[in-house]
Amino acid sequence: MEQKDVVIIGAGAAGLMCAGVAGARGRSVCVVEHTPKIGEKIRISGGGRCNFTNIHCAPDKFLSQNTRFATSALSRYTQHDFIALVEKHGIAYHEKTLGQLFCDNSAFDIIDMLVNICNTNGVDIKTSTTIDKIEKNDDGFVISTSSGIIAAKSVVIATGGLSIPKIGATPFGYEIAKQFGLNIIPPRAALVPLTFAPDILSYTKELSGVSVDPARVTSENGTHFDEGMLFTHKGVSGPAIIQISSYWNYGEDVILNLAPSIDVLSWLKTQRTAQAKSMLHTVLADILPKRLAQSIVDDMTLSNARMGDLSDKILNDVAAHIQNWRIKPSGSEGYKTAEVTLGGVDTDAISSKTFECKNVTGLYFIGEVLDVTGHLGGYNFQWAWSSGWCAGQYV
Ligand code: FDA
Repeated sequence: MEQKDVVIIGAGAAGLMCAGVAGARGRSVCVVEHTPKIGEKIRISGGGRCNFTNIHCAPDKFLSQNTRFATSALSRYTQHDFIALVEKHGIAYHEKTLGQLFCDNSAFDIIDMLVNICNTNGVDIKTSTTIDKIEKNDDGFVISTSSGIIAAKSVVIATGGLSIPKIGATPFGYEIAKQFGLNIIPPRAALVPLTFAPDILSYTKELSGVSVDPARVTSENGTHFDEGMLFTHKGVSGPAIIQISSYWNYGEDVILNLAPSIDVLSWLKTQRTAQAKSMLHTVLADILPKRLAQSIVDDMTLSNARMGDLSDKILNDVAAHIQNWRIKPSGSEGYKTAEVTLGGVDTDAISSKTFECKNVTGLYFIGEVLDVTGHLGGYNFQWAWSSGWCAGQYV
């Protein structure tokens, strides 16, 4: 039987960070990964350039049943700490938008950095290795794997969420949590495009490919995002929609404002005088993509309307269609395209300082497997780095 101080399950962002930090403390560490490759989500993230953190990272960018849980780790290992690490390893990066930092070259720069840190600190990474069972005894844990049995004082569950099963996501972390009596906040796909039922699609499908930037997208609880949105052949996507998907619940509307920077009603009233002879769709094309402007007037049977002929009531209806368009998605594209999983292991049972289970000595949960979900824009990786680093100090 192999003996280790620490066994980490999952060679993703959080697991590799934790492994390097624990290894640097002199702990003997083994990382067990069931797929042949490590850091697959890092590799595919940010269009291959990995949006590895966000300059504006703060606890209010995260969702959790326990809104204060993330605060400690995010303040102990911050975005600035991770940026310093990236700089120390000579990785070139840039800010794309809204504080989002991306590698100039490739996401492999981040994977290579983590692997180098692990190698330097003697971490043993076992890929293509599955876990049969984890048992607790008085000395720690016995982990039965397809590569043999390992005994360890600490076990860290870093198996992530459920999104993108084809590159390795499994519910393993939730199953281990249940085995040790922990509660699971029901998981669901988040940071994901939203889909429409056929009745709405019959109208929006012709807009497929049309983008509005910025649009204001608001959920029924009043949370809103001013970012780009895109009509797709299945529904809607783009950053504003992806963001709101974390706040949207089945059966609820989302409210679209397609021209958030102006008061469309008063603008239309001004244009009624200034461009009285112009067609409504031509005027609307000044503030909306042409296809969208045409589609709105067609939908309102105003295709032949000239500005000067429009009553206040009609202008009011047009403005409401543009700025207060309530639309009910039928669902989301689900885990096959979602960036993250909302919900997960209930943080009430976990120390926000050490990430150890309050009732199971030596068992730790880090990263996305926990009920902590960041906004779009580098926040989820920062959570993986912060939680992984903190646990790495104690395992
Ligand atoms: P992660 O999923 O990274 O790692 C879990 C590891 O555990 C995987 O290697 C998996 O194979 C392994 N595993 C699972 N079950 C196992 C088992 N039973 N036994 C052994 N191993 C097991 N975030 C961000 O901040 N910026 C970005 O640019 C992006 N972009 C992005 C794009 C796409 C397409 C996706 C799907 C996601 C993102 N994200 C993102 C989110 C980010 O990738 C995610 O939040 C982190 O990778 C989570 O890190 P973890 O280490 O917790 O899980």
